[in-house]
Amino acid sequence: MITPTASEIPGAAGELARWQDDRLPLQLHPGDLGWYSLRGLDATAHSLRFWLKDRALAAIGLLDGPDLLRIAVNPKLRDDQALAEQMAADLNSVARRIFTTGTVSVEARGARRLGLLLTESGWQEGESWTTLRRSLADPVPATSLRIDAIDASGARQWLAVHASAFRSAEADERQLDQLEESWLRMTGNPLYAQGQCLLGFDAHGQPAAVAAVWSAGPGAPGLLEPIGVHAQHRGRGYGTAISLAAAAALRSMGASSAMVGTTSANTAAIAAYVSAGFAADAPVADFTLVRSAS
Ligand SMILES: CC(C)(COP(=O)(O)OP(=O)(O)OC[C@H]1O[C@@H](n2cnc3c(N)ncnc32)[C@H](O)[C@@H]1OP(=O)(O)O)[C@@H](O)C(=O)NCCC(=O)NCCS
Repeated sequence: MITPTASEIPGAAGELARWQDDRLPLQLHPGDLGWYSLRGLDATAHSLRFWLKDRALAAIGLLDGPDLLRIAVNPKLRDDQALAEQMAADLNSVARRIFTTGTVSVEARGARRLGLLLTESGWQEGESWTTLRRSLADPVPATSLRIDAIDASGARQWLAVHASAFRSAEADERQLDQLEESWLRMTGNPLYAQGQCLLGFDAHGQPAAVAAVWSAGPGAPGLLEPIGVHAQHRGRGYGTAISLAAAAALRSMGASSAMVGTTSANTAAIAAYVSAGFAADAPVADFTLVRSAS
């Protein structure tokens, strides 16, 4: 297991894109790395772990917080015993210091063999997540919102809606300054070549809903991350509308399908995606381990 440098990220994201497959469970996507890069590429590298097999990248983990590692495995190696054993050993080892917390979780939907080994070594079912997917074979219907694919000039409006959707309070000017700095960091790095931020305006021209979409290349599933509606504009169909707009954007980028993951407890998000024509996979739990302090 290694921690990469920032310069290794674009190549790894390209490999991760090749692992995305409509027939498989949604696993860590290059768009997750793109969205995480709000913190900068060096910080993203610091949070990544690579596993190699025969000197080639075999699995990638992203520490999405100190207690959660989100994993993708090369689909050809989903059942590879030696790789799964190495990964399980690293995840179980306190000395390897992947995690710095007592209770730790792993998202490993695509890593079949690893999941079995984690269960055998005492990991329990953790938080339940639901993947939803929408085929992009046919054109996506137009929506009730006017949609802009924004550049830096629209960033503050996009960030204000995003902050309202995901935080309990509106962002003030100082917070927006910081958020804008992060947004410029994200959109200025190579991962954003596959990304796009969409802003939806209501009939009065008010910014009401946001999405970011991330392609994994033509013919592969694209990712919605994140989707949000301003707190004062909820319940008017805008969650459905921005999800449809996101799907349409991914279709124009050549994606075969649009995918999105949410905690199974987020019933509002699931309802909005279903209304936008997404179908839900069966929920899948993360793996969680409570380590005793010693
Ligand atoms: C999830 C979210 C985008 C939904 O936006 P919204 O504009 O309120 O949703 P819509 O008005 O388009 O409603 C879509 C469907 O969800 C249903 N819905 C909306 N809020 C709901 C709630 N709190 N509980 C259950 N269902 C809900 C609506 O009834 C509607 O169903 P229908 O089409 O069958 O009538 C919004 O609540 C939000 O921004 N949440 C915080 C951020 C978030 O969780 N994002 C998603 C995960 S990344």
